[in-house]
Amino acid sequence: MYILIEIFIITNLIIDQVITANVCSSGQCKCSTDFTLINCDTKGWRNLDDVDFPVNVVTLTLINNNLKFNTITDLAKIENLSNLINLSINQNPLGTIPPFNHTQLRFLSLQDTSLTSAEFPSSYNNSHLQAISLSNNKIHSINEEDFLILRGSNLKKLHIDSSSISKIDQNAFIPLTQLQALSLKNNQLKSCEFLLSLQALSSIKLDENQFTSLPQQLTTPRNIKTYSFIHNSISIIDESSPLSRWLTMNYTNVKIFLANNPFNCCLSLWFIRFIKTSPQFVGDASVLTCTSPPIFAGKLLIKLNPDEMNCGSDIPSKSWWTTGRIISIVVGSVSMVIIMIILIIVYTRRYSSHSGYEPIGGNDELYSNLDTASLDEHTSTIPEDDDELLTNASIGSTRSIAPTDAPTHTTAEGVYAADGSLVGGSQIEEAALIQ
Ligand SMILES: *[C@@H]1O[C@H](CO)[C@@H](O)[C@H](O)[C@H]1NC(C)=O
Ligand SMILES: *[C@@H]1O[C@H](CO)[C@@H](O)[C@H](O)[C@H]1NC(C)=O
Ligand SMILES: *[C@@H]1O[C@H](CO)[C@@H](O)[C@H](O)[C@H]1NC(C)=O
Ligand SMILES: *[C@@H]1O[C@H](CO)[C@@H](O)[C@H](O)[C@H]1NC(C)=O
Ligand SMILES: *[C@@H]1O[C@H](CO)[C@@H](O)[C@H](O)[C@H]1NC(C)=O
Repeated sequence: MYILIEIFIITNLIIDQVITANVCSSGQCKCSTDFTLINCDTKGWRNLDDVDFPVNVVTLTLINNNLKFNTITDLAKIENLSNLINLSINQNPLGTIPPFNHTQLRFLSLQDTSLTSAEFPSSYNNSHLQAISLSNNKIHSINEEDFLILRGSNLKKLHIDSSSISKIDQNAFIPLTQLQALSLKNNQLKSCEFLLSLQALSSIKLDENQFTSLPQQLTTPRNIKTYSFIHNSISIIDESSPLSRWLTMNYTNVKIFLANNPFNCCLSLWFIRFIKTSPQFVGDASVLTCTSPPIFAGKLLIKLNPDEMNCGSDIPSKSWWTTGRIISIVVGSVSMVIIMIILIIVYTRRYSSHSGYEPIGGNDELYSNLDTASLDEHTSTIPEDDDELLTNASIGSTRSIAPTDAPTHTTAEGVYAADGSLVGGSQIEEAALIQ
């Protein structure tokens, strides 16, 4: 009799245990000892019919299952968890945002859940959501009504990365008056009119989109402190960019991140100066590199000197006449004049060394006359015959004499020849001429 009673009690206990067992007591899920943190990832669940969660759960993750939350029971399983504030159901085939009627939820993550729309159903009226992630979906466009039900909510953080978004209605974010951080990385956006309605926003991430220039919306003063445009298609930043306004409007505490954009450094000379003079505005200035033109490809912008960059004549730039360029032009011209003078000296030397020996033994008058005559002859013949000799050998040997003689010779016309001692190439020759 006692045995029968005991068996009855034991079987009763077992049955009771099975019926009331929650995911933690049955060992189905990973749970913290106080059951506030529960991880039921990768269980292959299609619904929650046979699942019970302990009511004290605060953070629940149901990642990588086959849940759809398209039945009242499944929705109620979540809605009954009155302490739940953090719910992640990433990697489930939801299709649409599940209509949880759970006003205590603060953090909701719906990444990679096959969402095709960002529209929040009416059950989110009066929700207390503070952070939402809708990343890794196929949302394509964000419409004016999508967040309407979240009007007056305390939503501060919204991530919709990698969701093939190419269009965002410019009024779409108006209901999100408290939004501080918006991330729209890895989409197909080309513009950001929607920025103007986000009064509380302090950070916007538009990395890996299709911006080809910095949008003018960056000019309007907002609370935005951080703009991120990493890995877009921005190739030119010049005076017309909003960054120029940041300077003139004396903005403070504003930063932009621009790594991995294909900068054309010759067309962005203004920007190169900007990051040198106002580095506080560009958070990643030290890693920005040029993509074109080819001579600057891969070069760090911060290491380039816009005044010394050879950007070719087709670059219209008011700043072409830089001090460096003016100096080199002046130096170049002076060198040309000096070379001309040297050439003239060499001509004359050659002439005098040819003719100089003839009058030896004759008188000075005869010598002078002959010189004058042969000078005319030589000047017309030498250029064709001895061009090479002049440029190579003679210049080298006369260079040391040239500076001291130069003043006299530049103004001399027929005088060279008469003044044999001056143009003489060697001491011996000179001595011979004087005698
Ligand atoms: C939710 O809780 C109510 C009572 O609080 C209960 O009657 C109902 O069965 C619960 N639903 C689910 C799906 O657990
Ligand atoms: C919510 O839960 C996820 C998964 O455990 C965790 O990564 C995240 O940090 C939690 N968020 C908050 C605000 O507690
Ligand atoms: C949400 O639940 C409350 C009760 O907790 C109920 O009054 C309200 O009608 C529900 N809203 C929706 C949209 O189901
Ligand atoms: C949202 O809830 C408020 C009451 O808090 C109600 O006045 C309003 O009509 C509701 N809006 C919708 C769209 O259900
Ligand atoms: C910016 O500051 C400069 C000098 O500090 C001042 O002259 C100029 O008026 C300021 N500009 C604006 C728009 O406040």
